[in-house]
Amino acid sequence: MPDETTAVRWHVLDDPQAVAAQAAQLILAAAARAIAERGVFRIVLAGGRTPEAAYGLLVGADTDWSRWEVFFGDERCLPIDDAERNSHMAAQAWLDHVAIDEAHVYPIPAEQGAEAAAQAYTAAIQAAMPFDMVLLGMGEDGHTASLFPGHQQPAEEPVHAVHNAPKPPPDRVSLSQGALSDARQVLILVTGGGKRDAVQAWKSGDALPVASIRGHNGVDVLIDRDAAG
Ligand code: 6PG
Repeated sequence: MPDETTAVRWHVLDDPQAVAAQAAQLILAAAARAIAERGVFRIVLAGGRTPEAAYGLLVGADTDWSRWEVFFGDERCLPIDDAERNSHMAAQAWLDHVAIDEAHVYPIPAEQGAEAAAQAYTAAIQAAMPFDMVLLGMGEDGHTASLFPGHQQPAEEPVHAVHNAPKPPPDRVSLSQGALSDARQVLILVTGGGKRDAVQAWKSGDALPVASIRGHNGVDVLIDRDAAG
């Protein structure tokens, strides 16, 4: 019997707009299911630029925002109002424009520094797992969230303090491979030709951080033609 958690389902879409539209649709379908079954939808957000368009498409959605709980997969250790923060990107594109209860949005307090923030965030996510959906992106080196190739992290801790990240800023906070995998659904969004080599490496079995994410039912990769090659 194949281990479903290791399944990687590739969905090739025409362009970044098609990836964003499909992602928004899948997020809303997962929300409707979770709210119907458990009365709450717990989602972990991806950072970077790729998910921004999908977040924007959620603004006008027909959903009960009071049932949403929003977490972050990683954050950059920058001041709380810095435009380069993942929390800032998500707020600008989506969260500031919908009636989600502010108390149900859990930014990573990365302004406190990596160690303090990782410790503070551990409690928040341990109470929330398993997540209904985890959203992730992928870097050109195969990193995801702030899990970078070559970085060793204690497997047992659900939230890592990250230093010397090859993608600026060097100090970050990231949910662990285990925490990001403790989800009913995992969506990985990948667009742009610059990611083609990492996609090929992933498909040929390289032990990239992005390839370590499992999910209860494997992962779905929404990828555009440029990245798929
Ligand atoms: C971050 C992200 C990171 C991102 C990838 C892809 O804070 O930078 O969490 O993991 O998802 O680097 O970034 P782009 O979507 O901007 O290409």
